[in-house]
Amino acid sequence: MRQSSIGHFHYHSGILHCEGISAELLAKEFGTPLYVYSRATLVQQFQAIRTAFMEIPTTICFSVKSCSTLAILDVLRENGAGFDIVSGGELFRVVKAGGDPRKTVYSGVGKTDAEIVQALELDILMFNVESEAELDNIQNIAASLGRVATVALRLNPDVDPHTHAKTTTGKKENKFGIDFASASRIIHNIAQQPNIRLLGIDLHLGSPIYDVNPYRQAMEKVYEFVTQHRSPRSPLEYINAGGGYGIVYRNQKVPSFAAYADAIIPWVKKLGCRLIIEPGRSIAGNAAVLLTKVIYDKDNGHKYFTIVDAGMNDLVRPAMYDSYHFCWPVRSAEPPPADLFSSHLAESYFHREDEEKKTDFSHRDLDVSGLRRSDIVGPICESSDCFAKGRRIPPPNRGDILALFSAGAYGFSMASTYNSRPRAAEVMVDGDHCRVIRARETYASLINGEIL
Ligand code: LLP
Repeated sequence: MRQSSIGHFHYHSGILHCEGISAELLAKEFGTPLYVYSRATLVQQFQAIRTAFMEIPTTICFSVKSCSTLAILDVLRENGAGFDIVSGGELFRVVKAGGDPRKTVYSGVGKTDAEIVQALELDILMFNVESEAELDNIQNIAASLGRVATVALRLNPDVDPHTHAKTTTGKKENKFGIDFASASRIIHNIAQQPNIRLLGIDLHLGSPIYDVNPYRQAMEKVYEFVTQHRSPRSPLEYINAGGGYGIVYRNQKVPSFAAYADAIIPWVKKLGCRLIIEPGRSIAGNAAVLLTKVIYDKDNGHKYFTIVDAGMNDLVRPAMYDSYHFCWPVRSAEPPPADLFSSHLAESYFHREDEEKKTDFSHRDLDVSGLRRSDIVGPICESSDCFAKGRRIPPPNRGDILALFSAGAYGFSMASTYNSRPRAAEVMVDGDHCRVIRARETYASLINGEIL
């Protein structure tokens, strides 16, 4: 039997394994829907990024929003990660996971007073400030606490990262960051803000970005800005290049971490600055699959629907961004593509994007490879509750377990209880061991805090 793998998920004798453990056994033991994480993939990705950016002093701040479960943060902390947060709740999680506030940076356009106080009291490394109004507020709060707030200005470089409109952040029409003219004015006036220490410049272009050129363009703009504006009062000793590195969801080309580093490092090096990066997806994305059980296979006379027990509340990315997640049964007589994601052989298993946009699939026959097209859908009462349209998979039977791949980033962290569905359990595999890192929610947890 051919072996197929992505990260530490591989088919062995026709059964999907995460590291040393069968996904089928995990589904049986812990139920579905179930998020299954590979510890080895998390560590491997983190270390690969560290190696790629080794040439200059770099703090890797894992983007908590991408995958915020405590045990995941703990693995990354243990390997030396700092954290990129966007809320007081994420800061709470970082601290609970033993993360170091001194290696934590705080982005977001709407930090509240309470969140600013919390971050100042925990003495985080810096705020990534997104507006003049926010900076004034941080100054006032820091003064009232008798503290000095360390900050970076998040610039909006107006560079197009060529990604989904909903996840583009570095263009001038986006709400994020500060335009260069306003940033200049802020820096000139910084003397009037004695409780602010301006440590650096920050940016984040969007996510995922499959081309390194936007990074190069943005870094060149940052380079010019910093050379013009640094002073003893505003040393600008840190450059934060954000996150956004792409991962393989299907057989697309993804630049290596070294290629991203090559676009970023030379500018930071010329400035003699320290670098901060905020990767999320590239560490966690392919570190998990979502296992889901086939409840029914439905033939409406026109096409097939494979109805599974995971829904858009568990993994919202396809509904929200039309995103592609490879899907395959965990037990499959039909060998999966030789290399699930990167081989050209995989092409025959991925139908083209334009095909996927069609809702009308009239091909009701098995194709030559014994696969059959169906819409893979969840039980939620919305037509957008669909993981894949007209996807070719081996014809499923009731009770079969399917794996939705590349579910580690923006998977569980975006899950909700919509349709009053308790959120899935999460397990982490480490070699031949596994453990529950988040218990499946119960009906009782659904109404927790509600008052009749
Ligand atoms: N830094 C900042 C300021 C960010 O806003 C983000 C992501 C990151 C870092 C991490 O980006 P990453 O390395 O993970 O690409 N929910 C969407 C993605 C939203 C990204 C939001 N910001 C999705 O599922 O594709």
